[in-house]
Amino acid sequence: MSEPGSTANLDKPHSQHKPRNTDEGGRFYVTTPIFYVNASPHLGHLYSAVIADCLHRFKLLQGFHSRFATGTDEHGLKIQQAAEAAGADPQSFCTEVSERFKGLFDSCDISYTDFIRTTEQRHKRVVEHFWSLLWNKGLIYRGNYEGWYSTQDESFLTETQVVDAVDSQGNKIKVSVESGHKVEWMKEENYMFRLSVFRPQLLDWLREDPAVVQPECFHQHVLKWLQQDLPDLSVSRHRSRLQWGVSVPNDPDQTIYVWLDALLNYLTVAGFPDSHQGWWNVVHHIVGKDIIKFHAIYWPAFLLAAGLPLPKRLYVHSHWTAEGKKMSKSLGNVVDPLQSSQVFTTDGLRYFLLRQGVPDSDCDYYEHKVTKLLNAELADSLGGLLNRCTAAGLNPDQVYPPFCPEFFSRDGGRAVDEDYQMLDSVKNLPVVMEQHFRSMNIYKALENIAACVRQTNGFVQRHAPWKLDKRKSEERQWLDTIVHVSLECLRIYGILLQPVVPQISDKLLSRLGVRSEERKWVNLNFLPKYYGMECPLTGRPLGQNSGVLFSRLETENIHKDKPNQTKKGQKK
Ligand code: MSP
Repeated sequence: MSEPGSTANLDKPHSQHKPRNTDEGGRFYVTTPIFYVNASPHLGHLYSAVIADCLHRFKLLQGFHSRFATGTDEHGLKIQQAAEAAGADPQSFCTEVSERFKGLFDSCDISYTDFIRTTEQRHKRVVEHFWSLLWNKGLIYRGNYEGWYSTQDESFLTETQVVDAVDSQGNKIKVSVESGHKVEWMKEENYMFRLSVFRPQLLDWLREDPAVVQPECFHQHVLKWLQQDLPDLSVSRHRSRLQWGVSVPNDPDQTIYVWLDALLNYLTVAGFPDSHQGWWNVVHHIVGKDIIKFHAIYWPAFLLAAGLPLPKRLYVHSHWTAEGKKMSKSLGNVVDPLQSSQVFTTDGLRYFLLRQGVPDSDCDYYEHKVTKLLNAELADSLGGLLNRCTAAGLNPDQVYPPFCPEFFSRDGGRAVDEDYQMLDSVKNLPVVMEQHFRSMNIYKALENIAACVRQTNGFVQRHAPWKLDKRKSEERQWLDTIVHVSLECLRIYGILLQPVVPQISDKLLSRLGVRSEERKWVNLNFLPKYYGMECPLTGRPLGQNSGVLFSRLETENIHKDKPNQTKKGQKK
């Protein structure tokens, strides 16, 4: 608790507005996995992209130079077979599905700076170059692979990684323990990568920086895998099996393994081999839990082999289930993110995913839950607060009213303990938010914002400014002060929510009259008048009223408007 002029309040008022992380040269590079084009995008894909987009926007807000790459993974047996099944030539098949991902991302405000397709020439050159680099170092050799392969996962598996199972026709099959996907025995002459020699270096990397793979539980998984056998990795397939991919340089009979090809997309975007310096050392990968092995073992091993720096962070997220079940085509319960974003609005869906998505455990999606959360937090709490403080009743002049410090004086003021607590919470919000973003616990940052919004509503409710007699000077000044404080809280929420709900934040800040150049991290100087500084907004006219911030969603309408996606066979 603090009051104006006290040392507690004046304690470095600006320190919170400087991002603590001054990563190399103020640069940041974030990536999503590149998405397989064998099927349409689903909610989980959008989730990976929304997380990366949010981190990218957050870094821009803080004044970083940030790059954000996403794209599509278009080579490999899985895509080759999907194109065959569709009776299409692989290139146009890939283009068609890749466009669907791009369309979804564009409509959901995914502000990527590069969308890469692995069938592009710029990428092919990088794959060939990288291969030759490893070959010339003797880290790739001709060999024989004999073992299990899952086309669905495009993954090689050891005997201990597969189990017996029965398929839908009652046939005995083997499946991957981890993914449950069918595996096949393969025996082929191909090229092998000396993965085994990198085990000690991988262990050092993981142990030296325990935060390199987050959350912690996934870091532990990787360490555990590295305790086990780490055989060399097959990095090519015979051309007769796999045509759809990049050929091994100087050996047209072999096609490069799709995961080696795909992982290299991150380097292609960074400008490898000519201009990746300055970006490559600040790379942060967002990955789903199903592809950790590829990113936390194979990828750093490939990079070590090439003598390149290792990723700065691997942020792992868990999966979304739909109404308690794993999303799958066969169950017909795959949530179409485009359709959801139309029903709940783009920002609504983004908010839900980031507010409810917990990195270390799976989360369940169901429409009623989305509706309830959005109505409570965006429509009622945040929207209601804005509406109250900008409505003609409390704000007849439609301006940012003046703040009168005396009302917040401990000596004869009108503020109460809870009010000072609220001021402290809002003042600390940027620091708290930054901490949670650093560990990719975006949901915790949003939990804190939602709690502060509730506190501000409580503040308004407690002092019931609508009951004050505006004709009396002191009452009028107190009313203005209450509205000023509330608008200041809203301004902070608006600035901080920009990475999460860019459209809503824009609407909110525009209504407050906050100019676009005043929406940065450095502008998070909350309630400056209280801390003895000038407030540039005092007296400024509010912006145009462009309607409610977020319209309440009616549960009935949602079910009426939306074809039921959760019942098998009803998908459009
Ligand atoms: N093509 C590879 C990645 C190569 S990166 C060099 C791939 N593609 S994918 O399309 O299958 O998956 C892309 C991302 O979507 C992964 O991070 C995966 O975890 C994520 N999701 C797939 N299903 C998901 C859910 N049900 N929930 C959340 N994310 C999910 O793997």
